[in-house]
Amino acid sequence: MRNAKISRRGYLSFLADVLIAVIAILVAIPALGYVLTPLRRSSRAKSGETPFSDAGLLADYPAGQWRLVTLEIVQEDGWRKTRVRHSVWVRRLEASPVASAPGEGAGGITVLSAICPHLGCPVNWHPDQSQFICPCHGGVFSSDGRHSSGPPPRNMDPLEFEIREGRLWIRWEDFKIGVAERIPVTV
Ligand code: FES
Repeated sequence: MRNAKISRRGYLSFLADVLIAVIAILVAIPALGYVLTPLRRSSRAKSGETPFSDAGLLADYPAGQWRLVTLEIVQEDGWRKTRVRHSVWVRRLEASPVASAPGEGAGGITVLSAICPHLGCPVNWHPDQSQFICPCHGGVFSSDGRHSSGPPPRNMDPLEFEIREGRLWIRWEDFKIGVAERIPVTV
């Protein structure tokens, strides 16, 4: 009789232990998720790829004109979130571009970084002269971003883009300044 009581007590104690373990696991899973998610985001960020930013409706871009667009990019590093703004020049040549493609001049769209490849000043479009001019050291680029004169060592930098359901999406990218070769810089 006494033995039966002990084994019953032992069984109940075992059940209580199992219950505590299950509760501990249920509490730990969301907590672990909270801790690990930013680390996963951080390692994705370290892959160097900035996500595409929505640059608005394609139909809102006047055909044949350069337009300065500000992209807002949210950078996540662990639990830290920072918003960064970058300016890009966008031109839509055709009334209805047909395809999405990365690079210069594809599908009637050109997207260029507004950062001068010489020393990083913002490049301005001068419609009266049909050229881009950098105010810092007088670098000049043609209407399609090719280097014409002055110290910049290369053309303006084209950026990757996609057209999704009539909207333009642009992927911001930093390039090394002051060198002839276009070298992506990962933060
Ligand atoms: S920074 Fe543009 S010409 Fe020097």
